[in-house]
Amino acid sequence: MKKTIEQIKIEALKELETTSDRESIDAISVRYLGRKGMVTKFLRNISNLPIEERPGAGKRANEIKKDLDKLFKEALKKLEARSSITTDNQIDVSLPGRTVRQGSLHPITQITWQICEIFTRLGFDIVEGPEVETDYYNFEALNIPKNHPARDMQDTFYISKNIVLRTHTSPTQPRIMEKQKPPVRIIAPGKVYRCDSDLTHTPMFHQIEGLFVDKRVSFGDLKGMLTTFIHRIFDEQTSLRFRPSFFPFTEPSAEVDIRCVMCRGKGCRVCSQTGWLEIMGAGMVHPAVFENVGYDTNLYTGFAFGMGIERIAMLKYGIDDIRKYYENDLRFLRQF
Ligand code: PHE
Repeated sequence: MKKTIEQIKIEALKELETTSDRESIDAISVRYLGRKGMVTKFLRNISNLPIEERPGAGKRANEIKKDLDKLFKEALKKLEARSSITTDNQIDVSLPGRTVRQGSLHPITQITWQICEIFTRLGFDIVEGPEVETDYYNFEALNIPKNHPARDMQDTFYISKNIVLRTHTSPTQPRIMEKQKPPVRIIAPGKVYRCDSDLTHTPMFHQIEGLFVDKRVSFGDLKGMLTTFIHRIFDEQTSLRFRPSFFPFTEPSAEVDIRCVMCRGKGCRVCSQTGWLEIMGAGMVHPAVFENVGYDTNLYTGFAFGMGIERIAMLKYGIDDIRKYYENDLRFLRQF
């Protein structure tokens, strides 16, 4: 019995389903649509059909010829698209995979967290203040009035007449005291800005402020607290000294030095042959600051300190150029 054109189509589709490579698709195409292909043969033999069936069968066979041609071409295209991923782009699927490199915290962040950890264990809370600060909190509330020479000590970035980029973290002192009654025991880490740039200064750097206010807080408490801190962040052999200094918002004021961690006091390049390294400013909170925030100066005393985090990190890691922290050279950063 002669196959009808519909049967031929069904068989062709079934065969196409089983193909998975170019050669077998080509072969099917030849088998059905080639010069001696089944569809071609059917068309050629139409004249053998009863005369009334011929026009319908011919029309249908031509449709099926077109359909199959389209399907074969599509199958080939799909195959090519798939194979181009692996062969045309030359991906070697047998290579071991690329591992994802794990990132790590920036050394400044690490040191900040270490310092915060030490002080939180000593009972301090962590607070933050704005980097864009008003003239009032950055200077005025800290007993640095307009035209006071102390404003020259800090190379201030002015945003406008009364708005500055904070030059230190000390404005967090009046900010917290305005909101909170004593006792206050806080540290405030963050970015500060000064128009300054060389081996040991960048226009942006980090400080940590400390403030402790309560009844009968003494300079001895300040010494004890800072000694504990220095022993924990460096080591127990690191000794401290307090040098008289001046800050408008503390009285008395001190500059805190530690024994050079590089030469242990013998004198070297890092400590400029002095055997000592200056690491922070500190002192007893000036009564004028308490008055600005409405604290009773007869009842409360307190101490404050402020240190540069980059400086601590440089000493801890033996880094001689502060700018390395901000160049984002991965060879540098990966060491931490
Ligand atoms: N704010 C001072 C500075 O930036 C440091 C300091 C803080 C001094 C607190 C005394 C008390 O130099």
